[in-house]
Amino acid sequence: MTNDDGIRVIVGASSQDYTGWIRTQEEDLDLTRRSDWEARFRPGSISRMLAEHVWEHLDLAEARVAADICFDFLRPGGFVRCAVPDGLFPDEAYQRIVQVGGPGAVDHPAAGHKVVYDYRSLPALFAAAGFEVRLLEWWDAEGEVHTVMWDEREGFVYRSARFDHRNRDGRYWFTSLIIDAVKLAMTR
Ligand SMILES: C[S@@+](CC[C@H](N)C(=O)[O-])C[C@H]1O[C@@H](n2cnc3c(N)ncnc32)[C@H](O)[C@@H]1O
Repeated sequence: MTNDDGIRVIVGASSQDYTGWIRTQEEDLDLTRRSDWEARFRPGSISRMLAEHVWEHLDLAEARVAADICFDFLRPGGFVRCAVPDGLFPDEAYQRIVQVGGPGAVDHPAAGHKVVYDYRSLPALFAAAGFEVRLLEWWDAEGEVHTVMWDEREGFVYRSARFDHRNRDGRYWFTSLIIDAVKLAMTR
């Protein structure tokens, strides 16, 4: 599926299904398995990738491999929009849910969480892979939330300050650490 804006890919899509985007699942496009990518895409050919609450399921070594693969398969100017749980969101219930391993039960959605990131560690991971990183939504160490206006047509993140329906009555219940990791250089 291509359009004037190039190839757009959702990784770890689960039920996400957005017009103009190719949905992929871990089983057919594993973020850490280069051969999966080589079988489907040309290096340097993808314009947008969307990964909502996927990267925290990779350990740090896998997360770096995944960032490297994304860099290689993005075209210059392309980016990965990556959203993960925010380790600095000052809410105990949220942190219990998103913590490494999840809150106990193996069938809990967070049971597979291997890393909890913040506004320093996630950008550092992508910067090490050669990306220029733009923070879009994050909590700082002083407990303040920051949101930059981002275009949802370039990658819709439901679990965000703006779109998550749990956020209401002037209070945030669920936000994400969201970045655009942009490929500006041709090579790492
Ligand atoms: C919490 S779900 C999020 C699903 C979807 N992105 C959403 O926002 O509803 C985590 C997803 O990450 C995927 N995932 C985990 N490890 C992956 C990997 N190595 N490569 C690609 N996807 C992976 C899982 O298969 C699962 O679909």
